[in-house]
Amino acid sequence: MDHFLYRDGALFAEDVPVAEIAAQVGTPFYCYSTATLTRHFQLFDDALEGMDHLVCYAMKAASNQAILKTLADLGAGMDVVSGGEYARAKAAGVPGDRIVFSGVGKTRAEMRLALEGGIRQFNVESEPEMVALSEVAVALGTTAPITVRVNPDVDAKTHAKIATGKSENKFGIPISRAREVYAEAAALPGLEVIGIDVHIGSQLTELEPFRLAYEKVAELTEVLRADGHDIRRLDLGGGLGIPYTRSNEAPPLPTEYGQLIRETLGHLGCEIEIEPGRLVAGNAGILVSKVIYVKSGEGRDFLILDAAMNDLIRPAMYEAHHDIVPLKEPAPGTEQAPFDVVGPVCESGDTFAKGRMLPPLAEGDLVAFRSAGAYGAVMSSEYNTRPLIPEVLVHGHQFAVIRERPTFDEIINRDTIPEWL
Ligand code: LLP
Repeated sequence: MDHFLYRDGALFAEDVPVAEIAAQVGTPFYCYSTATLTRHFQLFDDALEGMDHLVCYAMKAASNQAILKTLADLGAGMDVVSGGEYARAKAAGVPGDRIVFSGVGKTRAEMRLALEGGIRQFNVESEPEMVALSEVAVALGTTAPITVRVNPDVDAKTHAKIATGKSENKFGIPISRAREVYAEAAALPGLEVIGIDVHIGSQLTELEPFRLAYEKVAELTEVLRADGHDIRRLDLGGGLGIPYTRSNEAPPLPTEYGQLIRETLGHLGCEIEIEPGRLVAGNAGILVSKVIYVKSGEGRDFLILDAAMNDLIRPAMYEAHHDIVPLKEPAPGTEQAPFDVVGPVCESGDTFAKGRMLPPLAEGDLVAFRSAGAYGAVMSSEYNTRPLIPEVLVHGHQFAVIRERPTFDEIINRDTIPEWL
């Protein structure tokens, strides 16, 4: 459920007509709904009620500070994967003891930043990383709380580019080697082993892979405890999928996911952490764009938009589907026709959809890509020297630009021309 609905023939974001925002901000832009963000965070929080838990939003999904603050004010922690994300979370007011540091290649500089600024835990992913973190912590006269990310060798049944829990993936340490790696970690002077971490992939549309992974984590918890480790926190990663079409897709609900966690891990008395990104932000954001031209090709018509693959890379990168809807609601019974929906970038890959059935659209009409809140703005680039597009946050009747569109000068002036030229 989200808060982008038609009212009297016009698409609204909560109580604001989206066309009104477009008139003020210009297209293309991302627009987020506070109510949807809040609702989705709350669903997870409620799903774990009764268990000691923290929902650490995977801020890689959408990392504008206004979004982070919205969630942090509701009690969210953050899952960060870089020094930049850590700094951003701190800038948004998230306390260090609610920030979890994930990622397969943390640098020593990033470790230092987090240890100095405060951190809930590091999810470490390799033995060399453990050694480095221990050294950094010792040098700072502190100890780093850690979990080790285990790779349970489970098929997440999702797109290959976003599956992470198979042994061929670069993530975590093989669960079969966990005992020996935990023993090494416990022997390092700068580390304090507190738990286990697992994350098997993104956009999972079934619970079964989670069940398999969590059962393995439950078993490992008992084994490691028997080895003398004080396993008291389980970080279960993110990955719960969202519906990208309004038709038949129905991924499991957070309540069912919560129930699964209770069933598989509830008996262990551990504190539970989860790291959802997509489900919190995905359907809380749309990308709004304008039709530049409608071009008749051979046997097909192209809808050329002012948004492009640099603004939303998911279709080009993962063959992802995003529903595209006009801001003006088509009258009931309006006939639809197939369009190839494309952007202005000079690549054939700059195609959002092929043969997409849409109502008649003309130059200047506005459309919205639905479910674009997660991995949309954050994955955008300035390819073709197209400025990063603005982000807008709606809250009831109000809206605010939470990231401005840079001017051409701001972009161009970041270059420096060496003196020999
Ligand atoms: N925790 C870890 C360690 C992760 O690597 C990820 C996502 C998450 C949590 C959050 O997963 P989520 O709940 O959002 O599924 N760019 C891709 C998705 C990449 C996901 C990477 N890791 C896309 O647009 O589909």
